[in-house]
Amino acid sequence: MAPKTLKTETNGRVAIITLNRPEALNALNSELLAELSEALKRYDADEKIGAIVLTGSEKAFAAGADIKEMQNKDYVGAYLEDFFAGWGDVAATRKPVIAAVAGYALGGGCELAMMCDFIIAADSAKFGQPEITLGVIPGMGGTQRLTRAVGKSKAMDLCLTGRMMEAEEAERCGLVARVVPAAELKATAVKAAEKIASFSLPATMMAKEAVNRADEVTLNEGLRFERRLFHSLFATEDQKEGMGAFVEKRKAQFRHR
Ligand code: CAA
Repeated sequence: MAPKTLKTETNGRVAIITLNRPEALNALNSELLAELSEALKRYDADEKIGAIVLTGSEKAFAAGADIKEMQNKDYVGAYLEDFFAGWGDVAATRKPVIAAVAGYALGGGCELAMMCDFIIAADSAKFGQPEITLGVIPGMGGTQRLTRAVGKSKAMDLCLTGRMMEAEEAERCGLVARVVPAAELKATAVKAAEKIASFSLPATMMAKEAVNRADEVTLNEGLRFERRLFHSLFATEDQKEGMGAFVEKRKAQFRHR
């Protein structure tokens, strides 16, 4: 059945997922989570796909978790269903995912962008964690991923005041990798994804796994983990091809093996 809350398309080895609940500025409800998880799992399992772009509309990447869906929850219900735990599926995607953000990325929208591997922002993008204005706090990783991304002081500023941050400030503090004119956002993100997808799939997946490990372990453990993955890549055909092509002064043709 076609998804209702998002659109999916492929362009060569790149998959593009566009959040599509315009009536609610792409607010993240349980239906959207189920459809997004399904799409990401499908692309993760598809060897013909090498990278994924997640985007929204011109006005909103996503304006947060769906407030109307959650306003009547109670504590025991939220605890028993482990409300929001399902978003772990998005962060568990093994292939590189680029968030292409235009307009609002607020609350869960900012948290969803941070679950991706890096963020390319339109100059129109606005980031924020306004949960405090609703009497709650971020619940999809905002206090944790934002703090790791931008440091304690700015994370505190955003989580405690609920203010919005423009794209330029988001780039300056390290939340965003690049800022581009809004009209160039999708093309820039797809081009970056095409570049990633042209490289050896096992190598790009291991690069993602190794960088993510930096948030989890001590420096020594991280360095050891990186080195072990690096060693393992000498078992791939693509390492022979990549290094052979350099020596022979030709373009590498990776076979993702
Ligand atoms: N949930 C549900 N519906 C939302 C929504 C959300 N997060 N954000 C916007 N909408 C709906 C609005 O209710 C409105 O619907 P109606 O036309 O039926 O009234 C529609 O989208 C358009 O929104 P606005 O009329 O408000 O548009 P605007 O341009 O005037 O304002 C905005 C845009 C500043 C983003 C404003 O919509 C807003 O403040 N949204 C809420 C932002 C927010 O607080 N996000 C955090 C949610 S909590 C969370 O995410 C928890 C977590 O940690 C995961």
